Amino acid sequence: MATYATRMGWRASGEMLKSSSIYRKTLQNVPVYLSVPSSTIIHTQRRSLFVLPLGIDVGLFGVAAYFTTKLKRPDPENVSHIFGPEHGSKEGDSHPERILKCIAHRGAGLDAPENTLEAFKYCLERDCNFVELDVRTSKDGQLVLLHDRGLERLTGANISNVQAMDWESLKSFDVGAKHPNREHFRDVRLCLLEEAIDYLLANKVKMIIDIKGEDKQMVNGIVQTFASNPVLYKYAVVTSFNPFMLYQIRKRDPEIVGALTCSGDGRLAGAP
Ligand SMILES: *[C@@H]1O[C@H](CO)[C@@H](O)[C@H](O)[C@H]1NC(C)=O
Ligand SMILES: *[C@@H]1O[C@H](CO)[C@@H](O)[C@H](O)[C@H]1NC(C)=O
Repeated sequence: MATYATRMGWRASGEMLKSSSIYRKTLQNVPVYLSVPSSTIIHTQRRSLFVLPLGIDVGLFGVAAYFTTKLKRPDPENVSHIFGPEHGSKEGDSHPERILKCIAHRGAGLDAPENTLEAFKYCLERDCNFVELDVRTSKDGQLVLLHDRGLERLTGANISNVQAMDWESLKSFDVGAKHPNREHFRDVRLCLLEEAIDYLLANKVKMIIDIKGEDKQMVNGIVQTFASNPVLYKYAVVTSFNPFMLYQIRKRDPEIVGALTCSGDGRLAGAP
């Protein structure tokens, strides 16, 4: 009898080892029943917890992935402080001044040189208290307000990638050079995110910070900027076309309000 059981055990294990190494572990823990046909043994072991049907494995993996990557939501009060009450809501009716009426794209870039302190000043003079601005990193890791990758469009200079330049040389360019309202804006410089934030927060202006770079310095820079200006948690939303950038930033600091930039119209892709 004992010999029979041992032979059964070997037969079963030999078959299983061919298909998977997981079986090796389960086999040791499964009692071998005497005089039970070998097919039953195999059947019992196939139902081991380690060997679920593929669909369930994938499902469990999905659930595990969801819970390990899920981030905390930001404070809902801070979110509604940024965006204000909805039109027609109770709070909107009792505080109409809190309803968001306009956001100046790149700081009203068609009227004043985009993403500059001059543009933000222009917005404030017209009672616009919400601006959108774009950020990139320079070679030395400074967060600079700039939409394009290069300076051709704004300055006419043949510079296609500002990430190869230090802030010291970037700030020497006049970025109002090609603006249609040039006569009102002479000698306009790029500015750092930090300078813009100081000016905007001092004037209680809310902002969309659209990040253009996709590097580690950008993630660190944004997280540090919020840490050193905590008021930003209820004055700024960070946006990106790249969900992985947003994820990395919110993973480091889930209190930062984030949103994905998208465009419903193909012609506008890239415009924000
Ligand atoms: C711009 O600069 C690149 C190299 O820096 C050069 O190859 C190219 O010819 C330049 N283009 C113009 C229009 O000057
Ligand atoms: C909401 O924003 C304020 C800053 O205005 C910040 O101090 C606070 O931590 C934020 N709330 C949470 C839960 O982080």
